[in-house]
Amino acid sequence: MAIDFHSRANRNTYASRRADTGWKDAMRRIVDPSDKRVADIGCGGGIYSRAWRELGARTVTGVDFSRAMVDAAREQSAGRADVSFQQGDAAATGLPAASADIVFQRALIHHLRDYGPCFGEARRVLAPGGTLVVQDRTLDDVRLPGSAEHLRGYFFECFPRLLAIETGRRPTDAAVRAALDAAGFVKVGTTVLWEVRKVHGGWQKLEQDLAKRTGRSILHDLDDKELAELIACIDKQLPAAGPVVEKDRWTVWSAVA
Ligand SMILES: C[S@@+](CC[C@H](N)C(=O)[O-])C[C@H]1O[C@@H](n2cnc3c(N)ncnc32)[C@H](O)[C@@H]1O
Repeated sequence: MAIDFHSRANRNTYASRRADTGWKDAMRRIVDPSDKRVADIGCGGGIYSRAWRELGARTVTGVDFSRAMVDAAREQSAGRADVSFQQGDAAATGLPAASADIVFQRALIHHLRDYGPCFGEARRVLAPGGTLVVQDRTLDDVRLPGSAEHLRGYFFECFPRLLAIETGRRPTDAAVRAALDAAGFVKVGTTVLWEVRKVHGGWQKLEQDLAKRTGRSILHDLDDKELAELIACIDKQLPAAGPVVEKDRWTVWSAVA
């Protein structure tokens, strides 16, 4: 069963991590965040909302359709001036027209059946000349083989049925470009990003992290017995000692309103 974003039990799933410096460098190469108004759509617990502020954005408004996520984001961002959160759908954010210079959507669009309403709303919210940044994993990104750095590849090698779920929901470059074009965006570009998700002190730390299923929504589709099997399966593949640097490959689309 897929993760329920509205359940309070999952509210901290996308809340407590910090964005990696490599991600920040990549965003700076795509768009200058200094003094910009950023809208982070599908913000979850606000990890990247806070990161945009750290990048120099003037204000960041996170929007998520889950009340539980918005509450977690507010808790995690307490005391941070100029980072605020509100409940709203990606297709109807409630944000004023032309109120953002950058609209950011990370790990959002693979949850949507139709990108059109979401990109149309992003274009409405962006000031003319503003930039939409969409970060998600295509099926090609997901299908990369497992390795010490690309742990997620093992998920599919050990449990091929998880790949069937991904096949049904992951965006293709062509579909995203077509939807951006239809929404009236111009200057569409893509970048490949290897983002460090977490550095685990060693296999045991990683094992504990996996057992809690933190932040890996696809693992919500495994029951406890299968999760133990997955951990045993990865255990066979990884070097016994040393830190494990967990990375994911992402595709980042940028487009101008
Ligand atoms: C995988 S999480 C990513 C959270 C955050 N962007 C990050 O990268 O850490 C996807 C988020 O999108 C939100 N979401 C899914 N569909 C949405 C929709 N139609 N409108 C607004 N938010 C949505 C979920 O509640 C969840 O918080």
